[in-house]
Formats: sequence, structure tokens, C-alpha cells
Amino acid sequence: MSNRLNATPNDLRAFWMPFTANRQYKKEPRMFVKAKDMHYTTHDGRQVLDGTAGLWCVNAGHCRPLITEAIQQQAGELDYAPAFQLGHPKAFELANRLIDIAPDGMEHVLYTNSGSESVETALKVALAYHKVKGNGSRTRLIGRERGYHGVNFGGISVGGIVTNRKMFGTLLTGVDHLPHTHLPEKNAFTKGEPEHGADLATELERIVTLHDASTIAAVIVEPVAGSTGVLIPPKGYLQKLRDICTKHGILLIFDEVITGYGRLGAPFAAQYFDVKPDMIVTAKGLTNGVIPMGAVFVTSEIHDAFMSGPEHMIEFFHGYTYSGNPIACAAALGTLDTYRDEGLLTRGAELAPYWADALHSLKDCPNVIEIRNIGLIGAIELAPIAGEPTKRAFSAFLKAYESGYLIRTTGDIIALSPPLIITKAQIDELIDGIRKVLQSNI
Ligand SMILES: Cc1ncc(COP(=O)(O)O)c(C=O)c1O
Repeated sequence: MSNRLNATPNDLRAFWMPFTANRQYKKEPRMFVKAKDMHYTTHDGRQVLDGTAGLWCVNAGHCRPLITEAIQQQAGELDYAPAFQLGHPKAFELANRLIDIAPDGMEHVLYTNSGSESVETALKVALAYHKVKGNGSRTRLIGRERGYHGVNFGGISVGGIVTNRKMFGTLLTGVDHLPHTHLPEKNAFTKGEPEHGADLATELERIVTLHDASTIAAVIVEPVAGSTGVLIPPKGYLQKLRDICTKHGILLIFDEVITGYGRLGAPFAAQYFDVKPDMIVTAKGLTNGVIPMGAVFVTSEIHDAFMSGPEHMIEFFHGYTYSGNPIACAAALGTLDTYRDEGLLTRGAELAPYWADALHSLKDCPNVIEIRNIGLIGAIELAPIAGEPTKRAFSAFLKAYESGYLIRTTGDIIALSPPLIITKAQIDELIDGIRKVLQSNI
């Protein structure tokens, strides 16, 4: 109580910040107070060039007018409508608009409020689908080492990042993992998809042999693993996974929370790699990060399997109070309008070669041991300081922030994913800024 009485508006103690070194942060707070297009404004009035689209989500850049106006208008017109047994027009309009840009075969959309919820939703659809098809023994879920699928229990169970798993008990049972595809000894400094490693997909055959296909419901992978430090799939890897899943009746789920909505230069990675999953998990860029929302795309085959039994019965016992929230739908429609009007879902393809060259020009900077890129994603891997893993990259992050550049680090890897509106001059500026940071004895 005494804390509360003493609290001042700038008292930082109460908020336990997510995925943050809270004690370090609260000694040296970094606050954004405004944003526009490619830049944030800090509390001390500095401009920071956004090299990460916020958290991989602000694909159209900041405070874009169509999105802002759509939210303002919706908030004054219909603020909330119950999501169960009732609806509102924009939820249906949005689903149709999403289907229009989705890969062929994706015909239905379930709404969520985040990437983590989209993952849980897809995993539950997979289990329930096999059940309604009379294959209830298919309960195993296969993820991948170094995979990130959000922070809820299903997601951390199929995920493969030890720090996100080790505190939380035994997680879901019946989960197995493919090996990750990061082979720097063979693929270091590759531009785009690496040559080596497609055969790692055949590890799925080993897992099938171990458990039997009749026990496996789904495989979930990020087409490009983002949060673990940008792991780009070897050439042919994803198609191999697809083929093995098809052969054994296993559903393939692409977690496109990062790759969805233009990040690779196509609306979705499924189109970029020309590989068809059975479900696509999305969030982030769906609303340009402005309002929490996710969407899970499924095929007609999956959706239609549920549409049996008495018509008055609920077909799938799952959903959220905020599934298809009107303001979130308005934000998503404003976002899709912005993407369409400015060609942003494919702009990454035009910029990718320039981006790749700029990024790889950092090859000779001190402590750089690997650089990789795809679409408008890049990663610069640094040699860890002996005995102090993650410290070098974190110092780079702090120095970059002080110098006016927002970068993201994970482990000792700098990950970059600028808004899709970035100009070539801004790419140069960002890369030059990072070069100075790398050359500054971090
Ligand atoms: C691939 C992937 N899946 C799921 C998530 C979780 O999304 P959220 O933080 O919105 O729950 C993320 C977030 O970065 C992600 O990158």
C-alpha cells in the first residue's frame, strides 16, 4: 500500500515487463512516445529509425492514416459485438479479403488475438480434425528445435527454445521435435536460401518410424524461423516436409506470424516457397501491429470435416471473447487497404537484392561470424564474448538505440526486419549505423 501511495506517474516498478531485463531497463529506461512511418521518437526527443518493424509487426510503417481512421471510425460506430452465435459485417468482410490474398486452397479463417493464440488454435484444430475424421489416435504434435511458437503451453511444447521451456514443467505430452536447420559450417554467409540441409526434413521419417504415423496429428514449423535468430530453410527443405506429411496423412502447419503479410516479398511464405501447408498461423502484420489480432487459415478439407451433425450444434468448441473484435477487424481492413494501395505485400521482393547486398557488406566488421537474409529479413551473428553469451549483441542493441537505430537481438544474433516502406537510402542509413556500432568495440 505504501508503494501505491508513493507512486508517481513515472514510477516504473509496477509493470513487470515481458521478455525484458527488468532491472537493467528500469535503471536506464528506453521509452518511445511517438512514431511516424519509419521512425520512433524517444522520450528525450530523439528520432530512432525502425529496423525491426516494432516487433516484426509494423509492416506498413507507423501511424498510417487509413489504419488510424478505420479504428477511429469503428470505435464510434460499433465498439464490440459478442463473438459467439452473433456477428458483425466487418468480421466476414475481413475473412473474405484475407482469403483473397492467401495461398490457393486456404478458404476459411478463425480469429484470435495474438500469434500465441493462433498457434494454440491451429494445434487444437489439428487434433479435433483427426478426431472428427475418425482418426482420434492421431494426437502427437511435432515441432522443431529452435522453433518459436509463442508463449502458451501448446506453443512452448512444440517450440524449441530452451529458455522458453525449461521453467514450465513437463509441458504437453506426446510432442517430438525435428532438428533445426542451422548449418553455419556449410552455409555461412549465404544470400537467400542455403544450399545444404534439405535432407534434415527426412528426420520426419525417423520420427514417423518411431511413433507410427497413426499417432501423429501435425507438424508445425516457421517457414523462416525468426525469433531464434533468423534460420532460413535450405533449398527444397519445406517441400520435402510437405511430401512426407502428405505421404503419412499428417497435417502441415506453417507458423507465419513473422513471414505473413509481405515480409518475404509475397503475401505469405507459402507462396514465396510455393509449398502448400494445411493451415497458416498469422498475427502481427495482420493489423500492422496496431491492435492485437491473429488469424488462422485452414483449407476447406479441414473446415468441411467439422460441418456435420445437427445444424443447431456448435461445430468446434473453441474461440475467444475478442475473436473478430470490430475495432481489430477495422484495423485489419485499413491495413490490407494500405498494403494494397502501396503494393507492400510484394515490395519486399523488389528491395530484397539491395537489402542483401547492404547487409552482407558488414561481413568484415569485427566479431561478425555469419550473415544471412531472405526477403526483408536479415541476421548478423556475432561471436559471443567468452563466458558471457548474449552480452555482445545486447551491447550492440543499446549502442544502436543510443545512435538512433532500432535493432533486435536474440542470443548473440542481431535480427533485422524493417517496415516494408523502407527506402534504399534508409537501408543504407541503417546498415551504416550498424557498421559504426560493430566497429565500436562492443
Ligand atoms: C513465429 C511466431 N509464432 C508465434 C509468435 C507469438 O506471437 P505473439 O507474441 O503475438 O503471441 C511469434 C512472436 O514473435 C512468432 O514469431
